[in-house]
Amino acid sequence: MQFEEAVARRRTVREFQARPVEEEKIRKVLQAGLAAPSNAHLKSWEFILLRDREARKISIVDHLKARDMKDRAEIDRFLAAFEDETLKGVYRRTLPLQLTMLLEAPELLIVTYKMKPLAECRRLFDLNPLVSVWMCIENIMLAMAAAGLFGCTYTPYDTAGLKTYLGIPEGREIAVVIPFGYPARMPEAWPGEKLEARLHVDRW
Ligand SMILES: Cc1cc2nc3c(=O)[nH]c(=O)nc-3n(C[C@H](O)[C@H](O)[C@H](O)COP(=O)(O)O)c2cc1C
Repeated sequence: MQFEEAVARRRTVREFQARPVEEEKIRKVLQAGLAAPSNAHLKSWEFILLRDREARKISIVDHLKARDMKDRAEIDRFLAAFEDETLKGVYRRTLPLQLTMLLEAPELLIVTYKMKPLAECRRLFDLNPLVSVWMCIENIMLAMAAAGLFGCTYTPYDTAGLKTYLGIPEGREIAVVIPFGYPARMPEAWPGEKLEARLHVDRW
């Protein structure tokens, strides 16, 4: 598959087929993640494939406290602070699926990286490890799309309990939890952003 095709095909998917994902495809996708650039060549990324179903449930429900927000009034209250209608639409579709996608996807990937505590970060430069891990994550998502796989980059609010439960070493952070697999329905390609409205040459 051409690079442009994989880029256009990648979309966030939150509903999956039960079909298992081939081990060699998973390894290829993670290998693509490790090819990403990183600050100071650190590539501190390590992965956990959470396959034990009971451990997954404890991780997601008890430690991440993920839940499907389904109550209309609660969703409206959550969205009250947002103005953008497109963004509101995304949340209306996705808030009711947050727990379900994490519990039901055939695979669950946790991406970890080394990062000093946020309280010790003084400059944006100090956030380079976070920036780098997202380059790794994007490589993973693109490699998935090229392999017909899709997922969702779920970003937990508080990872302390999960890090302890999974035995993740001190000094390491969880960047993302990615439920993934073959999509329940093929996602539509994104219509495409208008570059001309965003590109400035020489001056803003
Ligand atoms: C940093 C980051 C955090 C995200 N966190 C979540 C999340 O917690 N839950 C979720 O359902 N989607 C999450 N997403 C997915 C976005 O909602 C999605 O990328 C966006 O709506 C654009 O859709 P697309 O990925 O299909 O192009 C996240 C994406 C990024 C890049």
